[in-house]
Amino acid sequence: MGKLEDLMLEGMLTELKATLLYAEAEKRATDEGYANVARMFKALSDAEKIHLNLFSRLYYGRDATEEDVENLKGKVGFNVGTTKENLNVCAEVEDETKQYIDAANTAIENGNPGAYVVFTQLAQVGESHANACRNALKHVEKEEDMQPEKIYVCPTCGYIQVGEPPYRCPVCDEPGKNFIKY
Ligand SMILES: [Fe+2]
Ligand SMILES: [Fe+2]
Repeated sequence: MGKLEDLMLEGMLTELKATLLYAEAEKRATDEGYANVARMFKALSDAEKIHLNLFSRLYYGRDATEEDVENLKGKVGFNVGTTKENLNVCAEVEDETKQYIDAANTAIENGNPGAYVVFTQLAQVGESHANACRNALKHVEKEEDMQPEKIYVCPTCGYIQVGEPPYRCPVCDEPGKNFIKY
């Protein structure tokens, strides 16, 4: 297996871990009475599923199936903590997507522009996710829920915006009218 394929597989595992962790964090936030933080974790988890499929299309040439998810699940481990802890982990996980910039360079060296676009976009999206987590954390540290603002997710790249959707996605140029509302 080439180095680029390894990086795609690694990306798929990172995104699957985030999908599963944020889904658990959503339940935990609901239990702790943070309804709006729970809604944000739902948006984040769905965005990570979009990322999982972006890597799956590069690696397998198709979306990830239930069977792929079952097979890959055993390779990812994570701990679910309190909502405050989960938000901290989320911000750290999203900061780590900066490493995708190096992977994007490997994609260029390998003459794979499709992989270059995915790695580059996901590094940018990671920043939007980290910011969303840090914003939520400010509220949870005061033991209060986030404001009941709408949360919008880009259906193409998983970029997240709180408040109103952008005219076009700043990462992938998808029209804001197609964003998914949470
Ligand atoms: Fe992601
Ligand atoms: Fe986008």
